[in-house]
Amino acid sequence: MVNPNHKVSVGIIFGGVSGEHEISLLSARSILAALNPQKYEIIQIYITQEGTWLSGEDMLTKVSQGHLKDSIPVALFADPTRPGVYRLTSFENAGKIDLLKEVDVIFPVLHGTFGEDGTVQGLFEMAGLAYVGAGVVASAVGMDKGIFKDVMRANGLPVVESRIFTRQEIIDHLDKVIENAEEVAPYPLFVKPANLGSSVGVSKCFNRSDLEKGLMDSARYDRRILVERGVEARELEVSVLGNEAPMVSLPGEIIPADEFYSYNAKYHDDRSQLLIPAPLDDDQTETARNLAIQCFKAVDGAGMARVDLLMDRNNGVIYINEINTIPGFTQISMYPKLWEISGISYSELVDRLIDLALERKAERQKTIYCYQREKSTR
Ligand SMILES: Nc1ncnc2c1ncn2[C@@H]1O[C@H](COP(=O)(O)OP(=O)(O)O)[C@@H](O)[C@H]1O
Ligand SMILES: [Mg+2]
Repeated sequence: MVNPNHKVSVGIIFGGVSGEHEISLLSARSILAALNPQKYEIIQIYITQEGTWLSGEDMLTKVSQGHLKDSIPVALFADPTRPGVYRLTSFENAGKIDLLKEVDVIFPVLHGTFGEDGTVQGLFEMAGLAYVGAGVVASAVGMDKGIFKDVMRANGLPVVESRIFTRQEIIDHLDKVIENAEEVAPYPLFVKPANLGSSVGVSKCFNRSDLEKGLMDSARYDRRILVERGVEARELEVSVLGNEAPMVSLPGEIIPADEFYSYNAKYHDDRSQLLIPAPLDDDQTETARNLAIQCFKAVDGAGMARVDLLMDRNNGVIYINEINTIPGFTQISMYPKLWEISGISYSELVDRLIDLALERKAERQKTIYCYQREKSTR
């Protein structure tokens, strides 16, 4: 950096129009506490559940106390000649804007819809901003569990048998959908919305009546519903960090307090446990780590991701279940915990992610966006 006294200005965005809004606030709290104020100038941006962008000091306290009136409505522009966070000074009638602060890098701490699915990443790309984590394609592929599995299969990576049904098919031809779903694999089957997280709308079905209920329930949450083979599984998770040459952590293991790792088991039942690292033999550990890295590369991941695996208890086969491109990021979340045992502290991890975002932007700037005729040698 030219000026050693220049603080890197980081726009940290949290909240969002997502079922995982609250989880985002928890992740953001930990990240904000870890950002070194000597090194970074921080702009906090909170996106309300309705999608309004607000900025100010200590936004998390304002959110928890319901004091959002004291905050400033802000916006980012897709126009790269106007880099930075803009203040809307007369928000009611969208009257005036002015530059609040230029930003060097955005840290989206937005789990789920509009944050982890490539949509907000598209805005950052258009704005020419450096940002932490995966780009548009990796985010979108990681979000849609159906497309994700197709991409894994195309790369020869192991995933369980599955099939996508649409809400319309479920509503119009439930009997046919059930018949086709039962061809995927023997019970138990898992039914899940293709584009959600936190186990919302996920059900384990032991028979036709469960399946029917599961399909109807899932179809409330998404247009695309995945039915897949249920595995009697150990649940392993691996952290990936990097861009072109990513590093991969040791695997961790989840011991869910429920029949499976349901919403309740994830966030409310404190009997769920994380084993860090997972008790595995060397071969299993290496297989898990290899799958994680191959998965990351197959979706063109960047910055970070947590790759979740299912290991069949009966034969030890390991399947890739999903990739999370903005994994849970509290001090006690699996993603940072797995790095901690590899000697990367939470705050060092945040530093590295910001450096990786800047590195990726520099890489992107090598691409030209207009046709240049090759110089004639004649
Ligand atoms: N095919 C499967 N076999 C066994 N358990 C599964 C399967 N799919 C999902 N699960 C269970 O459901 C949980 C949530 O499903 P997952 O696909 O991870 O969706 P989410 O994005 O909501 O976390 C998993 O953590 C696991 O406990
Ligand atoms: Mg999951």
